[in-house]
Amino acid sequence: MADAVTEPLIRTEYISEDVIDLEQRRMEHFESSDMSTAEKLNNIGRFLSRQELAKIAWHTDVVRNTSGVTGSILDVCVYHGHGLMLFAKAVAAFEPYNYTYKVCGFDTFAGNTEPGEKDGPNFLRHKRDFGYFADSREEIQDAVEIFDADRSIPHIEKVVLIRGDVCEKAPRFLETHPHVMVRILSLCVNLYEPTVALRAFVPRTPKGSCIMAYVLNYNGYPSMVTSLLEEVGIWDVRLETPPFYPAVNYIWL
Ligand SMILES: C[S@@+](CC[C@H](N)C(=O)[O-])C[C@H]1O[C@@H](n2cnc3c(N)ncnc32)[C@H](O)[C@@H]1O
Repeated sequence: MADAVTEPLIRTEYISEDVIDLEQRRMEHFESSDMSTAEKLNNIGRFLSRQELAKIAWHTDVVRNTSGVTGSILDVCVYHGHGLMLFAKAVAAFEPYNYTYKVCGFDTFAGNTEPGEKDGPNFLRHKRDFGYFADSREEIQDAVEIFDADRSIPHIEKVVLIRGDVCEKAPRFLETHPHVMVRILSLCVNLYEPTVALRAFVPRTPKGSCIMAYVLNYNGYPSMVTSLLEEVGIWDVRLETPPFYPAVNYIWL
């Protein structure tokens, strides 16, 4: 497998050569800086792309905009844990005493399962090795331990990782956790089958909760729209695309 740190992004309709060049420059800037690792972490704004800043913004926005809604945050799926930990840290920062919510991350931790017929002929296989492979569970667990050491009510578990195919794990999770309500359902998997986890979780979403769905209205990933139409419908919900980060969509219930 190619070196994940230095391998460039794969060019698609949405990723131009300029973006790839810039990512390369950003990496070089980061690696060649004289700052210590601690200083780099504390000056992350210098290295962050505007796209990553926007990603942080919509994770914090959705947490703030569902404040007070009963339920946990379910992240389907976690990859390297970026979104999962942004959710966890946002709630720890804004709602430090909300000890009933959990942030639950589902993933195979072995990359995408196979696309099926409903993923369409233009299904976009990209991201490094074409499969979003990240055997990241142990690293995320380590990140969770660091996070736990710096939040209130740390003896109550906050982040829960569920390994396996979410198609099987979603219903099984609810059998073993029948109390779970869902305040944010983040569907960051671009395949049809895993997105029908909607079927298991949508009955647990109260009014005011949010389904975050990637990337609607985009021909590379039609499956999310298919499962959305089949499982939720679009007439009785408020569907919104944040103008600063249109790869994600909010479905307000
Ligand atoms: C687009 S990435 C998720 C990005 C992540 N939410 C973030 O914040 O960076 C897609 C993830 O879906 C996972 N995945 C794909 N099919 C799956 C399945 N059937 N069950 C569980 N995880 C799956 C992959 O392993 C990969 O980590």
